[in-house]
Amino acid sequence: MIDIQKIMASPDLRRIGKVILYRPSVTSTNRVLFKMAEAAALQEGDGLAEGTVLIAEEQVAGRGRLNRVWVSPRGKGLWFSVYLCPELPPEKTFLITFMGAVAVAETVNAEFGIHSTIKWPNDVLIQGRKYCGVLTETRVIERKLQFAILGIGMNLNQTEQEITESYGPIATSLRIVLHRPLDMQRLFEAMLLQLDGYYESLLQGEYDRILEKWREYATFLGTEVTIISDDEPHTGVAKDIDENGGIIIQLKDGTERTFYSGDLFL
Ligand code: BTN
Repeated sequence: MIDIQKIMASPDLRRIGKVILYRPSVTSTNRVLFKMAEAAALQEGDGLAEGTVLIAEEQVAGRGRLNRVWVSPRGKGLWFSVYLCPELPPEKTFLITFMGAVAVAETVNAEFGIHSTIKWPNDVLIQGRKYCGVLTETRVIERKLQFAILGIGMNLNQTEQEITESYGPIATSLRIVLHRPLDMQRLFEAMLLQLDGYYESLLQGEYDRILEKWREYATFLGTEVTIISDDEPHTGVAKDIDENGGIIIQLKDGTERTFYSGDLFL
């Protein structure tokens, strides 16, 4: 159980986490918050406060990138979404995802003294295995971003056996790495503080602060990777990300190609 009142009372939060909604069980926090945001957009008045967070103990239809299932059992991790309305061109919404991944890596590394890394575009890894994914979903009307829902899922307290049974060999949980169960309250509070700080940077147009941090954690840059995009594998050296968040890969024949979707293998 998380004491949301305690977090909401924090004087250090500016936007993200000033309002937190808690649900024992939802389909998907992204989906529920998206619907709330759509309903608020139709209503007069203040609607939904920017930075509202929806956290659930379990998701029965948690979703990942490329429409994959995100397994979210009760009490085993942090499954939450944040409602944001930044003035951002739609092609720059990747910055919201990058900000989410950076905030996770930074918080976890500072709390536990470990070395999380980021795998393009949105996975946070420890010892090469994924414990966190970030999914941003947006509503764009007439080329204008109306709102974004930033969803973060962190595997915290699953045992090795639970991970093996439900997630497969590329996943892990922080408990497995740290050899002890985690205090979700403390981590959630620290996460929201970090996110709130980075979101302020985003609103101030300090995109480079987010991008520099992202590159710092993206230790795969400069190494050989394979990306499977449109069912085709492409191998080469990951050079950088472009201005819209695409990954630039120098292929074996020396040409450079930028990919905007796909799965990366390190
Ligand atoms: C991915 O790695 O593919 C992204 C996973 C994102 C999971 C989170 S959990 C909270 C929010 N609600 C969802 O249904 N998905 C995101």
